[in-house]
Amino acid sequence: MERVGIIGIGEYLPKRVLTNQDLEKMVDTSDEWIITRTGIKERRLVEKGEATSDLAIRAAKEALQDAKLKSQDLELIIVATVTPDMQFPSVSCLVQSALEARNASCFDISAACAGFVYAIVVAQQFIVTGIYKNALVIGAEVLSSVTDWQDRSTCVLFGDGAGAVVLSRVKRGGIISVYLGADGTMADLLMIPAGGSRSPASFYTIENRMHYIKMRGNELFKIAVKIMAEAAQIALKKAGLSCKDVDCFIPHQANLRIISAVAKKIGLDEDKVYLNIHKYGNISSASTATALCEAVKEKRIKKGDIVVLDAFGAGLVWGACVIEW
Ligand code: UT7
Repeated sequence: MERVGIIGIGEYLPKRVLTNQDLEKMVDTSDEWIITRTGIKERRLVEKGEATSDLAIRAAKEALQDAKLKSQDLELIIVATVTPDMQFPSVSCLVQSALEARNASCFDISAACAGFVYAIVVAQQFIVTGIYKNALVIGAEVLSSVTDWQDRSTCVLFGDGAGAVVLSRVKRGGIISVYLGADGTMADLLMIPAGGSRSPASFYTIENRMHYIKMRGNELFKIAVKIMAEAAQIALKKAGLSCKDVDCFIPHQANLRIISAVAKKIGLDEDKVYLNIHKYGNISSASTATALCEAVKEKRIKKGDIVVLDAFGAGLVWGACVIEW
């Protein structure tokens, strides 16, 4: 049976670099604390006025070129993001307009750091069922727009960026198995409290800094390790594979210590794990998207390799998928 596979990859990271030394001047923190607790050395930030769709469009163009498709060949565009340009229209519609991809239906997915994996699985369903042939999936975020630059417990963690893939039917390789999960009972561990219908923007919400990310990081840490390890194992089992078969593991890049603990828990060699957290920090849906793209560009992933995407985030939501490259 023909599978759905990734036929093009692309990414875009803003040029502006914010280092740990820069953060030392902004909040009570240190390069040493950030590196040892998170593995992050620097992150990329947009320029003023630059928005999520600007990053998504650049990543999408590169992915389309890599797939050797014209934008008119796209029948579906999904953008995974928690930082859309505005409440509506969707970022995917803005991307469609910029690409002149007039044959594509468009919607965004809100699955936080697992958004890219969720979006890949959704696009896969449309292609498997024969509804669409070619889909563009993008993970894009401007987390700097929702980061509280006075809160040292979160502002050292996040960055901006976008990664994109084009999905289509493939004759060999492709997505072997997928697994998605969620547990809304822990929604309060990671959220932006205001700006939605429950607490619309007001002087009160602004004064109380309620439009920024609030995270109970320590509690999340342990759950992330457990769930990411389980998700990878479940997806591999569904594929009839084990950790020994994995050539490249692409985890969500929230914390180097989480990633190392997951690798250890599932018995995966560290040299199989692809990392870009040191350069970009946590870019939510764009973390797995950019990491996959860079692993391919750096030839860490070759034809026939078994690749595992594994992500976890606010919701809580998680997802893993096993791909033969
Ligand atoms: O993206 C999807 C979901 N996100 C995650 O999965 C993130 C999971 N959590 C984490 O990555 C980690 O919990 C953090 C990196 C956020 C925090 O690391 P931690 O080792 O859990 O630190 P902590 O929150 O327990 O804080 C330890 C200490 C505290 O000081 P006291 O109370 O021990 O005196 C904090 O106040 O470190 C302090 N601290 C800092 N110190 C210097 C917190 N942030 C900073 C900072 N610089 N930036």
